[in-house]
Amino acid sequence: MIMAPPAPKQIFPLLVFVLLSISCLFLLSLPASSPKAQIATQFHHIQSPEPGPNFTFIIKVLTFNRLSSLSRCLKSLSRAHYDVNDKVHLHVFIDHFLLDSQTGSADLDNKLNVSKQILDFVDGFDWKFGEKLVHYRTSNAGLQAQWLEAWWPTSDHEFAFVVEDDLEVSPLYYRFLKAVILNYYYNASNFSPSIYGASLQRPRFVPGKHGNKMQLDGGARIFLYQLVGTWGQLLFPRPWKEFRLWYDEHKVKGMKPFLDGMVTTGWYRKMGEKIWTPWFIKFIQSHGYFNIYTNFLHERALSISHRDAGVNYGKTAGPDSFLLDENSIDSNFLELYPLSSLKWYDFCFREVLTNRIVRSSNDLGSFLQSVQQNNTVVLVSLYRVSETNVRNMLCHLERLNIRNYILVGPTSHFLLDLARTGHPVIDASQFSEFSQLAKSINFQDSTVELIKEILVKAYATRKSLELGYSTWLLEGNMLPISSDSFFDSFGHSNDFYIGKTAGLFFVRSSSSTLKIWADHFLYDVASLVDTLRKQSGSNDGMIISAVEKLLEKQKIAFKNIDDMQLGLDVSTIHANHTLSHIKNKFIFWSSGTELDTIQRQLVLLDFWVVDSDSSCTAVVCHQS
Ligand SMILES: *[C@@H]1O[C@H](CO)[C@@H](O)[C@H](O)[C@H]1NC(C)=O
Ligand SMILES: *[C@@H]1O[C@H](CO)[C@@H](O)[C@H](O)[C@H]1NC(C)=O
Ligand SMILES: *[C@@H]1O[C@H](CO)[C@@H](O)[C@H](O)[C@H]1NC(C)=O
Ligand SMILES: *[C@@H]1O[C@H](CO)[C@@H](O)[C@H](O)[C@H]1NC(C)=O
Ligand SMILES: *[C@@H]1O[C@H](CO)[C@@H](O)[C@H](O)[C@H]1NC(C)=O
Repeated sequence: MIMAPPAPKQIFPLLVFVLLSISCLFLLSLPASSPKAQIATQFHHIQSPEPGPNFTFIIKVLTFNRLSSLSRCLKSLSRAHYDVNDKVHLHVFIDHFLLDSQTGSADLDNKLNVSKQILDFVDGFDWKFGEKLVHYRTSNAGLQAQWLEAWWPTSDHEFAFVVEDDLEVSPLYYRFLKAVILNYYYNASNFSPSIYGASLQRPRFVPGKHGNKMQLDGGARIFLYQLVGTWGQLLFPRPWKEFRLWYDEHKVKGMKPFLDGMVTTGWYRKMGEKIWTPWFIKFIQSHGYFNIYTNFLHERALSISHRDAGVNYGKTAGPDSFLLDENSIDSNFLELYPLSSLKWYDFCFREVLTNRIVRSSNDLGSFLQSVQQNNTVVLVSLYRVSETNVRNMLCHLERLNIRNYILVGPTSHFLLDLARTGHPVIDASQFSEFSQLAKSINFQDSTVELIKEILVKAYATRKSLELGYSTWLLEGNMLPISSDSFFDSFGHSNDFYIGKTAGLFFVRSSSSTLKIWADHFLYDVASLVDTLRKQSGSNDGMIISAVEKLLEKQKIAFKNIDDMQLGLDVSTIHANHTLSHIKNKFIFWSSGTELDTIQRQLVLLDFWVVDSDSSCTAVVCHQS
């Protein structure tokens, strides 16, 4: 849970205040007190590996006017087990109350009194594990600024653990977070640039499904989930810096963190800049990042919120979970599994399969099997297509719940990023087994890569047919309109369908198509490329033209999709256009159409569904 509507604000008379905003107290670093005798033996096996890298751990406590909450929070932090020689600093950010002309002077004295009590308490609070720093604000910052201004990492070895004052942490929380840092940040084999931190709160809800309660089974103790948790969040330095810069850029340019389909967008519409999570969530969505979560079962967690009355809760709601302590852990508490064995979940709590990349023909078969649906596979070419167009198409596939696609492209950051964020890809440049063949067909360097591209596409089609899957190939200048756009809805009169304008073909799986699409067919298709390229003066749609030529030559019947009027030409879209979903299966444009034109026309149909970051404007959850 992140937020609930705010409590009604009380009203104050205006008063000008000058207060010392920052007071710093540097205490000597002392070794952590040794664990109590009765738990010492139990603890023996969960000591973190020593010596580790030297990182700095800063606890950022955000507080306002709740002394008893703050006191409970700080006490739980100081009761936790820290390791000797570890640097654990405590930074307390005390927000100021709102100055308001309506506030009576008695109220004001009362508020001043509360602030003074909090400052006195923090001043007197002994922190033995590192430096204590107190930041007392001069005016009301609110939760967004409290969070965002709490930290700017001074190095890649500094970590922040952000704690709102109504939280209580387990004595074991630090041991766990330290283990997370050592295992998922400093161990290269378990590091992923997609991970932005770790949440200690019990994962509770699914923002893409109206905030529905999350159903967790007895599966893995650790998993990855996109959602930020605000009840005990560890932040990694690099993604946080990236977020702060992203936020800055979007904020100053007047952009809003709207993300359709997310319950958090509703909160933002209601509460605006009082809260920060909608910004972070939009950033996470556009970057495809994930958070580490724990699942200790039975509503247990290493950090709980008492949900005291305040900005987030109108009235006290009580603890959200049960706090884990030394007696409730088992022997594998600190056993952190290899990253490769963890599951990743998106904002719909649907599993994301990351880094699926095929780099050789040997791996293609099992890959096609895992992706196909209804014995159909859709190969989507990334060659000569703008990244924004590809991203717009992927948002449509997500929206339509089309999941049987594979992206085929050359090695690039873009391709790797698509794989990182869960899209299955074929890295055609890596298919070295086709390099020789490509050279034997044409020795010119400029053509070899094109021929290799075509060989990989033709080979993937063949492999797919071999496995009994009907196969689509899209050259990237079309968008499906409905979720059944790629079903075999042609009847059975033909096995081959070719759409040169829309840049696609469809081959039905059958024994005869498999016979035609044999090894020599691949060779013949690739051999035609040079001639066709000279004729057309471009590399676009080369494989489609070549397949068409070959089928004609061999007198094999095929149907021309361009004649079937299944597609809607993007240039014919006008304002107030109504789509005929019955007639139209896809929207297409001729290759070479300017991106601006495509975008402008698609906007008219609400088919331009990416934002200025080229990320989807909506999160769409489907029944899984
Ligand atoms: C950590 O710091 C200590 C003292 O500054 C140094 O001796 C040690 O080599 C450092 N360890 C690492 C892994 O950097
Ligand atoms: C402020 O607090 C002190 C004790 O902490 C109390 O004696 C005093 O009455 C309080 N003043 C107001 C205005 O609440
Ligand atoms: C790093 O992680 C791998 C995979 O989980 C593990 O086998 C290895 O022991 C770890 N290395 C260290 C130094 O912990
Ligand atoms: C398979 O195709 C049928 C129609 O031919 C459709 O109703 C069904 O939803 C499809 N299933 C999947 C998983 O795409
Ligand atoms: C489209 O609809 C709007 C409002 O319904 C109308 O004002 C406008 O004239 C229409 N445009 C065209 C080209 O029909």
